[in-house]
Formats: sequence, C-alpha cells, structure tokens
Amino acid sequence: MPSLEEELFPSTPGKFKDRNRHFHRCFASTSTMFLWALFLIALTASYICFQSFMDSGNRYFTATWGGHHWEKNVINSAQIRRSHGGMSVLVTGAAGFVGSHVSLALKKRGDGVVGIDNFNNYYDPSLKKARKNLLNQNSIFIVDGDINDSKLLVKLFDIARFTHVMHLAAQAGVRYAMENPGSYIHSNIAGLVTLLEVCKNSNPQPAIVWASSSSVYGLNEKVPFSESDRTDQPASLYAATKKAGEEITHTYNHIYGLSITGLRFFTVYGPWGRPDMAYFSFTRNILQGKPITVYRGKNRVDLARDFTYIDDVVKGCIGSLDTSGKSTGSGGKKRGPAPYRIFNLGNTSPVTVPMMVAMLEKHLKVKAKKNFVVMPGNGDVPFTHANISSARKEFGYKPTTDLQTGLKKFVKWYLSYYGYDQGKL
Ligand SMILES: NC(=O)c1ccc[n+]([C@@H]2O[C@H](COP(=O)([O-])OP(=O)(O)OC[C@H]3O[C@@H](n4cnc5c(N)ncnc54)[C@H](O)[C@@H]3O)[C@@H](O)[C@H]2O)c1
Repeated sequence: MPSLEEELFPSTPGKFKDRNRHFHRCFASTSTMFLWALFLIALTASYICFQSFMDSGNRYFTATWGGHHWEKNVINSAQIRRSHGGMSVLVTGAAGFVGSHVSLALKKRGDGVVGIDNFNNYYDPSLKKARKNLLNQNSIFIVDGDINDSKLLVKLFDIARFTHVMHLAAQAGVRYAMENPGSYIHSNIAGLVTLLEVCKNSNPQPAIVWASSSSVYGLNEKVPFSESDRTDQPASLYAATKKAGEEITHTYNHIYGLSITGLRFFTVYGPWGRPDMAYFSFTRNILQGKPITVYRGKNRVDLARDFTYIDDVVKGCIGSLDTSGKSTGSGGKKRGPAPYRIFNLGNTSPVTVPMMVAMLEKHLKVKAKKNFVVMPGNGDVPFTHANISSARKEFGYKPTTDLQTGLKKFVKWYLSYYGYDQGKL
C-alpha cells in the first residue's frame, strides 16, 4: 500500500513520469480546446468585421489603379481645353447623380475633369456604371477608387495638378443610417478628412467646393432657411455628418489656408437621379402598380420639400467653382487667409409631397395607390425651404425650372432608360 507521500511523490521515477504524462495530456487537450475555441471566435469576429466592411460599400481593397495606360487616361482627362480661365477639376462621386451632371457640364465648356467613385452598392451600381459610360463617351475618365485611399489621391495630384476639387462623394440618404451608420462615418467623415489632408499637402493647393446638405437645418423651424440660421439640431446621422463636415472644412481653411465653399443642396431631382429618393421610387412603384407610402407630419400636415432641378444645382456648383478664390497655403503651410463660404442651393418654392405625386401621376398617366402614414422619427424633417439670396448675390444663382417642368423631364428620361416594359421597370 503506497503511503500518501508515495502517492504524491512516488519513489519510482517511471511512475511519476506516467502520471506526469497523463497530467500533461490532460492539460494539453484542455489548452488545445481553448486554443481552438479562441481561433474560432477570432475567425467569426473577422468574418463579421469583413462583412460589415463590405456592406458599407467599401471597395477599397478591390479597386485597381496605376500603370502607364491609367496615368495617360488621367492626364488626358484632366487637360484644360479652353484658352481663358480654364480649370482642372477632380470630381469625387463622379458616377453619382450630381457628380455625373457636374462633370459633363465642366467638360462641355472645356475644363479638365477627372472623376473618382467607389461604385458602392447603396443603390443599383449598374446605374452608376451607366453614368460612367456616359462620361467616358464624353472623354471623362473616372477612377474606380475610394476617397479614403490617400495613396491613390496623392498619385492623382502628382500626375494632374488639379486647380479645383468638386467633392460630391458621400453616403447620402437619411434613413439608411439606421441600417449602416458606419458607411456615413467612412465616407462623410473619414473620407472627407483624407481628401482634405491630401489637398492641404499638395502644391499648389486646390480650391474645394463640396456638398453639404439642407438637412443641417434639422429641427429648425424658421423659414426660409438662411445660412446664418442655427444648425445644431440635426435630425439624422446623415445631417450630423454633413454638419461635422462644415466644421472640419472650417478647420482646414483656418489652419492650412484651403479655399472652401460648402453647398447646402435642397432635394435635388432630375434625369439620372437617385433611386432611393421618393420621386424616383414613387415613379417605379406607380408604373408597377404597387402602392406608395406617403409620409405625413403631426396633425396630418403634409411634408413639403424645396425640390431643386439638377440643371439649376449644376449652375450653382459651377458658379461656386468659378468664384471660389484661391487657396493660400502650400506644402501644408498657410500663407494668408483664404475664402470660407457656405451657400444654400435650393429652389425657394417648396411643394408638398402629395402635390409632387399628383404631378407624377399626370406625367405617367397612371393613378398612384397611396398609403398615408405618420412620419416615423427616423431622420426626415417636415419641410425644407431655402433662402438663396447669398448665392444669388455671390454668383448670380437663379433657379429656373419648376417642379412640374423638371418632373416631366425626369419621367421622359426614366421611360427612355428603363423602357416601357412594366416587367423590367
Ligand atoms: N441629391 C440630393 O438631393 C442631395 C441633397 C443634399 C446633399 N446632397 C449631397 O450631394 C452629394 C451628391 O449626392 P448625389 O445625390 O449625387 O448622391 P449619389 O449617391 O448619387 O452620389 C455620391 C457618389 O459618391 C460615391 N461614393 C460614396 N462614398 C464614396 C467613397 N468613400 N469613395 C468614393 N466614392 C464614394 C457613390 O458611389 C456615389 O456614386 C452628396 O455629398 C450628397 O450628400 C445631395
């Protein structure tokens, strides 16, 4: 019978060894299991991170750029082809709704234009590809890349000395923020700062015109909205990122001498528009015989928007570029004060959503099936109405297209693009 001591410290080393091996085997299998569990947790976590990264529409890792042919395309596209006052503009978000229109208008008058867009899938990327094809046919090259890719931006500034940046790339839409908040931070905050960093370091620095939004007025009730009104009550994350953009650009103007113009767009609509916007999705549903959801405010008050036709907004963008004034810094150093401006680009005549639907019904010759629903508190505001006197004074901004006329043009484009075949709409 082994003593207790022997049990614990056996006299025969072999015995000890066996027990020791058993102990080690036990320990080894527990630690292996632990390691496997850790590995599986890490794998799941990386998969989730990767998915959300991809979901945010970031195509950062898949974008390809560089090479002789690519550089030649950039240089050709950036070339100014008019004798006086021409500019070479980097247009971010060029495959987007406003970006594609602004790019075409600039090119038409002989300015150099290079676009950049990450073709994310927030809405049907085939529409972005179609806009890109249209731009390509007009000798505008669009780089497939993300504004967070600072190496790409530095390269672009190296090979094409942009005089101006028209910054329109952003995560748009107010409701999507509840689904994918990270995409707003990625494009509207991180992307903006990456772009400003590159602009600030480039020599000469470009002047920057960028898209803020009427949504910065948030819960403001004073009408019409003037640039000096309070903008510290955003109703959505989208609005908050645009407001942050105004503060961030101010910092870069103040410290580095970048010339900055922020444009607060008011519900821009028209041909090649955005499928997530009401006038567009209503058109699709009406043609497909599907019901549309029309939001109402408290006490059944109709929502109203200062719908602004795309051609008017394009004129406002170009007027802003033409009057932007120079950045004063170089190589990251400020050499004097530079312009910092903010303008409303609206239409100054709000229309209620039911009136907009009635106009669509008229142009489509189809009655809509309307479901009226109380507006949920998910980011929308009850009305927007722009005071545009500052833009008028500064660069003669004067919108000329009323909603009836603009929607007629939109419907004409919609039917020619998607066809009349109800199945394909
Ligand atoms: N359309 C409107 O009514 C309206 C109103 C107020 C403000 N705005 C602002 O105007 C600008 C243009 O709007 P839009 O209606 O043309 O939207 P859009 O979504 O059609 O265009 C934005 C484009 O930017 C691209 N993009 C997004 N994130 C990017 C990134 N990280 N890197 C590269 N490209 C990226 C998208 O792929 C898209 O093609 C946006 O800044 C938007 O917030 C638009």
